[in-house]
Amino acid sequence: MSELSVDNLLGIKYLTVDDINLIHKTADQFKEVINRPIKKVPSLRDITIANLFFENSTRTKLSFELAEKRLSADVINFSAAQSSVKKGETLVDTVNNILAMKVDLVVMRHPHPGAGVFLSKHVDARIVNAGDGAHEHPTQALLDSYSIKEKLGDLKGKKIVIVGDILHSRVALSNIYCLKKLGAEVMVCGPATLIPKHIESLGVKVEHNLKKALEWCDVANMLRVQNERMDISYFPSVREYVQQYGVNMDLLNSLNKKIVIMHPGPINRGVEITSDVADSDQAIILNQVENGVAIRMAVLYLIAAKIRRNE
Ligand code: CP
Repeated sequence: MSELSVDNLLGIKYLTVDDINLIHKTADQFKEVINRPIKKVPSLRDITIANLFFENSTRTKLSFELAEKRLSADVINFSAAQSSVKKGETLVDTVNNILAMKVDLVVMRHPHPGAGVFLSKHVDARIVNAGDGAHEHPTQALLDSYSIKEKLGDLKGKKIVIVGDILHSRVALSNIYCLKKLGAEVMVCGPATLIPKHIESLGVKVEHNLKKALEWCDVANMLRVQNERMDISYFPSVREYVQQYGVNMDLLNSLNKKIVIMHPGPINRGVEITSDVADSDQAIILNQVENGVAIRMAVLYLIAAKIRRNE
């Protein structure tokens, strides 16, 4: 297989196993490119990309922009805070005005779940979802699964626990879809208030005891508590959350094996993980960030191939 089954990257839900493997295989080649002295290739010289960020981002925004520049695309950046959105312009009007400047592809982060799917139905451009509310964050799941594969080999049968605020996490949902499609066993762990009801229907195990979850897994993906998406308190206090769901070095050393620690960022050091865990040789957090550029180059390259094919 040499092309994606989809024209847009809206969520992992819409990808086949072949799509995911094709993105990973293509990322292998781009990872080699970004480690060369000259880190740039002319693959997207004919493509113009708009990065539309309606919500804050450090890693995803910079990683997409770097991926686009490494592929020689023309790039424009839009930040909602400094735009005419503040004057009441709709999403569709905003994007159609940007597209009138002859843009081929839109990378969008938006606070509302389903914003990417909505936009793909109303504008004539390819859309890559860079995170939509608490729904999906497909490139994060692609880079997370790629990073696990790089560290541990084939994902089939590997045991991954996602710890923390599952309820408000687009990273959790995209990771569950992606890891399950690749044959991994997935568990979620956190306080009952932060685990969605009926999540077992996605084929995941649920464990509320962190020590038991860590004893079970090969990899722990630690999530931040997303206070910005909460209008009530989901646990009594941060101190009690840390006592029950924070990973520290003593807890890791009490296990009878060395597990891999992941985190999508941003980290709240001392809450979901301590600094010594984040900076330990068990953590692959910065490898995830490095792989994010190669994965986003692969996604953009493969979506651009669909644009050219349909022209
Ligand atoms: N992992 C992630 O999406 O980080 P940002 O919010 O900084 O993009």
